Amino acid sequence: YKYTVGQPYVYPKNSLSYTSNFMRMMFATPCEEFEPNDVLVRAMDRIFILHADHEQNASTSTVRLCGSSGTNPFAAIAAGVACLWGPAHGGANEAALNMLKEIGSVENIPAFVQGVKDKKYKLMGFGHRVYKNFDPRAKVMQKTCYEVLEQLGINDPLLHVAMELEKVALSDQYFIDRKLYPNIDFYSGITLRAMGFPTNMFT
Ligand code: COA
Repeated sequence: YKYTVGQPYVYPKNSLSYTSNFMRMMFATPCEEFEPNDVLVRAMDRIFILHADHEQNASTSTVRLCGSSGTNPFAAIAAGVACLWGPAHGGANEAALNMLKEIGSVENIPAFVQGVKDKKYKLMGFGHRVYKNFDPRAKVMQKTCYEVLEQLGINDPLLHVAMELEKVALSDQYFIDRKLYPNIDFYSGITLRAMGFPTNMFT
């Protein structure tokens, strides 16, 4: 990331926690002192934990399959990252954010939802292969999203679109019948963007 934005690499500081270091290495520059923001560090920590502690999903399976042939562990993890990239998996937060931008405002939600029901496209950030009664991670992520936006004093219109879209979908028979609920990616994109991560870095 630092290379792509033309900034010098920032070395880790041993006195900081893993996540504080991560934030510092992302956002510090040599010109100014960097004070980790506790709310943002806690949010990032939760994002890491919620994504790590997550059964045998597609990317984990990919790493294990690749590793089962005796490949080098770095190659196996690279294969897992490649699998995670797709919009049905780790790329869903970027896809959800793009979807919210495309919807733009709450007036456009009914037409968008009708398009989902007509199977023109999917509601990104909804649905899960395993969590059919609610994604417990989504509740934590939604709370974290509010905390981050409040801490940064951001009034993101996309959050209003997301909240209304969630409300409309959760009361619609199409989504009820198919047990489709918001997953972690529904709110993580808004959160990461507010924290300063460029969208193409999400996965
Ligand atoms: N929006 C609209 N309809 C959806 C949907 C979504 N996000 N996810 C599933 N469906 C529908 C399917 O079209 C299907 O409808 P049908 O019975 O009329 O054919 C039904 O729900 C079951 O779909 P299925 O493909 O069996 O669900 P799945 O459990 O295998 O899929 C996902 C899981 C995650 C791949 C899927 O929900 C999805 O693509 N979600 C959007 C991407 C996303 O947010 N991924 C992050 C996951 S953490």
